[in-house]
Amino acid sequence: MHRFSLAAAAIAAMFAMAGASLPGAALAETTQAPLKDVHWAFDYPLGMYDQAQLQRGYKVYHEVCSACHSMGMVAFRNLADKGGPFFNASYPNSNDNPVVKALAKDAQYDAIDSETGAPIKRPGTTADYFPSPFPNTTAARAANNGALPPDMSLLAAAREGGAHYIYSIVTGDGTTPPPGLTVPDGKYYDPYIPGDLSSFWTGDPKKVPLGGFIAMPPPLIDDRVTFDDGTKATLNQEAWDVAAFLKWASDPKMDERKQLGVEVLIFLLIFTGLLYASYRTIWRNVGH
Ligand code: HEC
Repeated sequence: MHRFSLAAAAIAAMFAMAGASLPGAALAETTQAPLKDVHWAFDYPLGMYDQAQLQRGYKVYHEVCSACHSMGMVAFRNLADKGGPFFNASYPNSNDNPVVKALAKDAQYDAIDSETGAPIKRPGTTADYFPSPFPNTTAARAANNGALPPDMSLLAAAREGGAHYIYSIVTGDGTTPPPGLTVPDGKYYDPYIPGDLSSFWTGDPKKVPLGGFIAMPPPLIDDRVTFDDGTKATLNQEAWDVAAFLKWASDPKMDERKQLGVEVLIFLLIFTGLLYASYRTIWRNVGH
């Protein structure tokens, strides 16, 4: 009885708290434009990652985003895992994949000379995680007007809208804020960043622009990278590819999961057929 009343009190308190927080949330009036309506094969129930796209997306991350955003939970060998951008069935052990070995070797890591003890640099190996652009978060903020570029390993999973959110932000219309909006120094207008712009708006109070500010300069332009497969590197293409790559990074097992799902369904179908056939056989000579 005592236990029960404690639980009831806890539940009542939870409801009270939820109720109390609702008006607060409504007051903030955070707005955000609907995310751009783009599609990837992986949006669909049986759709898989497109390996060529993942390779292009890696290039965009490596040549552009990695100047500010770390991806500290992804190791070079992951790029060669099954379903990854550089997976090659001839190298079932991703550490043997020559493409990924070469990519890792280009990265530099701090090390200690085993003879002299002096700090030195060593080339990366497939086991190394992607190097961070900044030694620590203070340095990262100092280089970015006080804002911290978030680690991208799980960004696509952590944000509502996933790849659509990333795509919308980096193709956002930050370069042309609506007239009447005062954009603070070091910030950029982005309709897809959740925010409340009412106190920065001098126009019609009923027409406050949707969205918020972001401390990231628009990172992409046409031909920012050159794709190895000859795909034309428009801004939208680069954004589409890098968003796909980040989605893969946040959910590298999606392909395997979907494939297993299909196999299970096929098994169930066959099993249903077998069951039905045995039902017919067993009851064949029994009158109804
Ligand atoms: C010059 C440094 C710089 C580069 C290059 C850069 N970013 Fe950013 N990015 C930032 C900073 C700083 C923030 C945090 C902004 C803020 O807090 O207002 C950010 C935030 C973001 C966000 C919003 C994250 C969130 O927390 O919701 C996304 C999405 C994003 N970046 C994507 C990219 C992509 C994709 C690329 C490469 C094409 C890229 N960025 C390149 C500095 C950079």
